[in-house]
Amino acid sequence: MSTQEAIEFMSDWYDERTNAYIEWCFGDIEDVVQDLGSRIGLQVGMRVLDIGCNNGSSSLHLVDAFGCSVVGVDAARSAIEVSQIRAQENPPSAPVVFHLVDARDTPFLDGEFDAVVSKDTFVNIVDRPRLISEICRIMKPGGHLSFCDWMQGNEEPGEAFKVWREFKQEEPFEMLLPREYELLLKDSGFVVTHSDKRVEVFQERIKSRYAAFAAADPEEMQQRFGIEDHAYFVERFGLTLNVLLSQDVVWGHIAARKV
Ligand SMILES: C[S@@+](CC[C@H](N)C(=O)[O-])C[C@H]1O[C@@H](n2cnc3c(N)ncnc32)[C@H](O)[C@@H]1O
Repeated sequence: MSTQEAIEFMSDWYDERTNAYIEWCFGDIEDVVQDLGSRIGLQVGMRVLDIGCNNGSSSLHLVDAFGCSVVGVDAARSAIEVSQIRAQENPPSAPVVFHLVDARDTPFLDGEFDAVVSKDTFVNIVDRPRLISEICRIMKPGGHLSFCDWMQGNEEPGEAFKVWREFKQEEPFEMLLPREYELLLKDSGFVVTHSDKRVEVFQERIKSRYAAFAAADPEEMQQRFGIEDHAYFVERFGLTLNVLLSQDVVWGHIAARKV
């Protein structure tokens, strides 16, 4: 898929209503972003790339919490528009800009960034080796990558995983095991400095969102977020919860330093 195709695809996928839905359902991300940044010692003045910034909250939080200057990128047009409006309405304490960019093929210079951060996005970006090699290119030697992502928890996933993948087969979704990420990073010129997988906290996060979604009024979901088929989403959340409970899917947190 070319960069232009990726941008068109993600722009269709993440329209304004989807972005608003993400904010409503998964909006409490400050603690996670704080964790991702603290793990690699982000500091005032550093230049940081936030991959898959969506509505801009992660980038704005990185600026406010660490005083670094942030470039947020996303392949969905509406996500970048929303991010730009948010930054204009509430100007952050340090520079932040947003660009419509395919993270696998960026316009940035070699070694331009001190650090790269990303939350729950790599799973949506097909061709992970290309993505990691692009991250390596634009990062300074000694720079750090910190990300969390949906990762496969078991080498041989069970029935719940198969049912869930079947349900989501139309979606761009490529899941790696934590050890596959670690290998890929090592092969691409990084030293892995942190790797852990979170099980309970991820289960609780999805459980509470599932409950909120299931309890929501289908008509309101339709009006606010264009969700035509509330029952489909309830089923989808249920299947997702199953793969978290079986630990076939975990929340991996990995950090690595460019050699
Ligand atoms: C699951 S959302 C996560 C958004 C946000 N980081 C969060 O955790 O709330 C994935 C984001 O990745 C973006 N994305 C997908 N493919 C991309 C690509 N090739 N380059 C940049 N962003 C991409 C999508 O448009 C979407 O906003």
